[in-house]
Amino acid sequence: MTSLTIRRPDDWHLHLRDGAMLAGVLPYTSRHFARAIIMPNLVPPVVTTVDARAYRDRILAAMPESHSFEPLMTLYLTEGTSPDDVEEGAKSGLITAVKLYPAGATTNSQSGVRNFENAMPVLERMARIGLPLCVHGEVTTPEVDIFDREAVFIETVLDPLRRRLPELRITMEHVTTKDGVDYIDQSETNLAGSITTHHLIINRNNILVGGIRPHYYCLPVAKREYHRQALRRAATTGNPKFFLGTDSAPHVDPLKECACGCAGCFTSINTLSCLAHVFEEEQALDRLEAFASLNGPAWYGLAPNAEKITLVKRDAPVEFPTRVETGDGPVTVFDPIFKSHWDVEG
Ligand code: DOR
Ligand code: ZN
Repeated sequence: MTSLTIRRPDDWHLHLRDGAMLAGVLPYTSRHFARAIIMPNLVPPVVTTVDARAYRDRILAAMPESHSFEPLMTLYLTEGTSPDDVEEGAKSGLITAVKLYPAGATTNSQSGVRNFENAMPVLERMARIGLPLCVHGEVTTPEVDIFDREAVFIETVLDPLRRRLPELRITMEHVTTKDGVDYIDQSETNLAGSITTHHLIINRNNILVGGIRPHYYCLPVAKREYHRQALRRAATTGNPKFFLGTDSAPHVDPLKECACGCAGCFTSINTLSCLAHVFEEEQALDRLEAFASLNGPAWYGLAPNAEKITLVKRDAPVEFPTRVETGDGPVTVFDPIFKSHWDVEG
């Protein structure tokens, strides 16, 4: 196969930041993707519908005129979040989901949830009105090894929460383990999972063998090879519970290449090229559309995009810049280790 036409994809987990960085990275998403769920972990975070409306306006103002792109806004769940504000945001169509960061789990998560009891009134309201909760599924307990944090989260937080509030619709975001894949796969209702491009490509050796590679460091951190294989199976077999959430998370190079580097891989520029390569390797190009364009909207109760995009396989590998310049500084582009020949036409 040398050409593949699919419905225009969506990104169900994206960091756009703000200001000069927003202006620098947004066009790489909006030229290919029709919609994206926008993460609220700004400084300060997007906690109220007023914040979300203002952030949405800034995103739309930063978008190139020729692009059409719909930011799907989220609220950052804190222990002080008001159930009424969440409901109002959802009913007005502004808010697509609420994001749960366990406090301390990742970039700008300090305002996240420490005591889940305090978040119950909001979660109960969301269950009642059918508003999905997006979760960063890692515990932050210092004694738990970083490679086990997802599995322990499922056992000690996610599963008890789902038993307590079975009507709450939960997206387990950026799943990185076979434990996560299996848990989602075996759930009967109200649970789905997003998978990033980079977790389909790298395992923990890529971060740590032969020198430490800060541009492969993200959270949840990439795991062992057999977890990557489980993610590939989940993404490429057409299972409707799994869909693309790139978690493209730009940081300027000085904040990645230092003694305490930030977590995040910047993939929005080459995600579709990388995914086509991965799906071809798995002999699943015919299922790329389900993963990137159909399963996500179905889960979020939205129609798939009517427009189409075409991916073409070039004779020569497609070249992407090593880094892109933003008004805040250079951001290194995710290196997929392979050379993809797949390009988005137009
Ligand atoms: O790698 C990550 N980067 N994981 C996250 O959960 C947050 C993100 C960011 O905002 O940089
Ligand atoms: Zn993220």
